[in-house]
Amino acid sequence: MSRIIKIRNLEYVYPDGTKALKGIDLDVFKEESVGLIGPNGAGKSTLLLHLNGILKAGRGLVEVLGMKVKERNIIKVRQRVAIVFQEPDDQLFMPTVFDDVAFGPINLGYPEEKVRVSVKEALKGVRMESYEKRCSHHLSFGEKKRISLATVLSMQPEILILDEPTSNLDPRARRHLIELLRSFTLTKIVAGHDLELILGICQRVVLLDEGRIVANGDARNVLSNKSLMESHGLELPLSLGA
Ligand SMILES: Nc1ncnc2c1ncn2[C@@H]1O[C@H](COP(=O)(O)OP(=O)(O)OP(=O)(O)O)[C@@H](O)[C@H]1O
Ligand SMILES: [Mg+2]
Repeated sequence: MSRIIKIRNLEYVYPDGTKALKGIDLDVFKEESVGLIGPNGAGKSTLLLHLNGILKAGRGLVEVLGMKVKERNIIKVRQRVAIVFQEPDDQLFMPTVFDDVAFGPINLGYPEEKVRVSVKEALKGVRMESYEKRCSHHLSFGEKKRISLATVLSMQPEILILDEPTSNLDPRARRHLIELLRSFTLTKIVAGHDLELILGICQRVVLLDEGRIVANGDARNVLSNKSLMESHGLELPLSLGA
């Protein structure tokens, strides 16, 4: 398997002095699905935001698809690495759902017809085909989460990064999302507290706490390790005998 993400000794301090990442080393391989877990404030979202250069490494190396995530590569990186943010309001900013989902394809220079098809396919993927003309900001939280995912699916990225993808989804939407994600062969990194989702789609789990990786291994092994999980403020997923 070829390595698609390489992170070495990554440190990040927010402008107010909060040390969010304290030396992260991580490799992700092509077509892997990796779950990123850890208590609130562990640094999960901060780590993900480095993968397409929204945050810039304070110290250390972040390399994606063989490119250093630096200013000069940012456009190329963002064409291939898509992030769905924890907060859908950070993702949706256009007047209509169509415009939000079309934004990426238009920026990639797709011709009009291809933009239309990409938007349709992406909305179909999240089962929101009839929402094209709706105003993104008037949707419910769960609907916004699904449209947020469509805004990146429409660009057909090589690496899909999802931060808390199932929060506020109803059970049916959550199940559809899990099925959809399982059907993708692309490389995925999924952060969050929905451990059943992570168990359902990830082969490997990385446990982060206080800005450091404290475990990195087979998803079942990590998620069923009661003392490890509990010592980092987590519980075993129900299906693993919580
Ligand atoms: N914009 C910011 N300015 C200052 N500190 C921040 C900022 N964003 C996050 N932090 C801090 O950085 C640390 C890591 O936060 P991060 O959001 O990455 O955690 P997380 O693991 O994603 O948590 P959660 O499970 O709640 O989503 C926390 O201590 C948080 O308070
Ligand atoms: Mg977070």
